[in-house]
Amino acid sequence: MSKITVAIDGYSSCGKSTLAKALAQKLNYNYIDTGAMYRAVAIYCLRNDIIKDSLVDYDKLMESLNDIEVYFVYNTVTKTSEVFLNGEHVEKEIRSMQVANNVSSISSIKEVREKMVILQREIGKGKGVIMDGRDIGTHVFPDAELKLFMTADNDVRTQRRLDELSSKGEYHTFDDVKHSLEKRDYDDTTRKENPLSQADDAIVLDNTDISKEEQLEFVLKLIDDLLLTKDEFNKSTVKH
Ligand code: DC
Repeated sequence: MSKITVAIDGYSSCGKSTLAKALAQKLNYNYIDTGAMYRAVAIYCLRNDIIKDSLVDYDKLMESLNDIEVYFVYNTVTKTSEVFLNGEHVEKEIRSMQVANNVSSISSIKEVREKMVILQREIGKGKGVIMDGRDIGTHVFPDAELKLFMTADNDVRTQRRLDELSSKGEYHTFDDVKHSLEKRDYDDTTRKENPLSQADDAIVLDNTDISKEEQLEFVLKLIDDLLLTKDEFNKSTVKH
């Protein structure tokens, strides 16, 4: 059976990675969380005094860009590709509030984006990939067979993020988390370089009132239909 590319874009904490992981497991596809790549770069910048209070030392970052190596290694236990920064597993550290509050400034820099997009295209070139982010359907894989644009009510997203953080032992107020999330959405949609926007051919998924299971079922059906059409098309072109 053919394989396709699934591009999932949308606002912060809309459940993009939850959906992407579940799809990848059901379909036996590779899941790539592109936000994790920008977060790993943000860790490097925080550790090396390249960013402070969201202010980036651009010249220092340009000098260091070649020293930042970000890649994924598939973990057979968690069954996901986990992110590494210069040989160090940083999957846990990338989820901290400190990283969340600084990553938008890093991901708005053209040279950082260009470096990450080269890696993303390389990983996804063989198809059979589910990639989530902000510019996957509009820029990284404009020819992806399925593009989803995810959204949900801000309070619902805030609560989900708060639950995720507290499950990891990080406690914050509802208002702090909501503010951080809304600021990130603002930065991501208004930046100059490939801002978050809905691709014309994306399907909008608002999951405020639907369960993860309902959402997964809906998207699996979309993929099933797409694969059927693709295989029918391939058969008919072979015959003629
Ligand atoms: O999805 P996330 O919250 O882990 O993303 C972290 C940040 O990286 C977020 O502010 C948006 C940015 N990002 C981006 O600009 N482009 C992507 N393809 C993925 C994430």
